Amino acid sequence: MELVLQQQLKIYQQRINQQLQQQLTSLYDKQPCIPNTLIEAMEYATLNNGKRLRPALIYAIGEALHIPLKQLDSAACAIELIHSYSLVHDDLPAMDDDDLRRGQPTCHIQYNEATAILVGDAQQTFGFQLLSNDTSVSDTHKIKLIQLLSQASGVEGMIGGQMMDIQSEGLLPELAQLKTMHNMKTGALINTALHMGACQSPLYPQLKAYLTQYGQAIGLAFQVQDDILDIEGDTETLGKPQGSDLEANKSTYPKLLGLKEAKIYRDQLISEAQQSLSNMPFQSPFLQELSLYVAKRTH
Ligand code: IPE
Ligand code: IPE
Ligand code: MG
Ligand code: MG
Ligand code: MG
Repeated sequence: MELVLQQQLKIYQQRINQQLQQQLTSLYDKQPCIPNTLIEAMEYATLNNGKRLRPALIYAIGEALHIPLKQLDSAACAIELIHSYSLVHDDLPAMDDDDLRRGQPTCHIQYNEATAILVGDAQQTFGFQLLSNDTSVSDTHKIKLIQLLSQASGVEGMIGGQMMDIQSEGLLPELAQLKTMHNMKTGALINTALHMGACQSPLYPQLKAYLTQYGQAIGLAFQVQDDILDIEGDTETLGKPQGSDLEANKSTYPKLLGLKEAKIYRDQLISEAQQSLSNMPFQSPFLQELSLYVAKRTH
């Protein structure tokens, strides 16, 4: 990994991990009637080895636009809680039926299915609760943040894409359909992280279109690489089962295009991302290196 990216990512990871820890721990003191197992299982599925890419995007673009990190913490927590919930549900037997996530048994294996369903629901609502309770962000910006996150994670974004993913098992969709599915299930949340990080800046209206270009390109490339890693990665490095897509007969880029073409497409998306970044009125070596990392990552 490139140096700026490695160092900066570590700083953002430490910050988000500490924030999430603090927020989840506070649940133990809130109401004595909350079942401890629920909070423990939420911690289990949140405070683990995630790469924290989406919070890092929020912090990085926010910093580039001189927004204090404190005003970005609840957005960073909310997006990571929602992403982590999407993984808990994605791994359930009724969905991808996987038993390993972030290097540990999936939530339904460690606890049970009912708990995993409730943990995902709880992560989602807790994310929105944190966002709406944040007193360091103005009400206008809070509404904007809630709109961005709910749209990207809901029926028009992640959930809609996950439904398409399930429906397309065993089929060979058109390339355009596959692209829509990947944009929705994965790209939407990655793209919205950039908008969430930037929306408190007065420059946001003029940046919006470029952010979307960059965000959609890295979002789609991220899922294409995820599909490639399902074939070329190894379970230990991935921290999730290699070959899961093949086993479930998922619709993926390598399946439709072949591995070689899928890699060419991924690299083309990365060039597009770099091009969009060069149109922005600020320099972010972090985002520059991140574009390359999306393509080169091994987990
Ligand atoms: C995995 O996301 C699921 C996809 C959307 C491809 P990440 O690769 O960001 O997973 P973590 O958060 O690092 O575990
Ligand atoms: C998941 O896509 C996208 C989500 C919204 C969770 P995958 O099913 O390919 O993610 P992994 O490979 O299980 O992490
Ligand atoms: Mg899936
Ligand atoms: Mg999966
Ligand atoms: Mg995958």
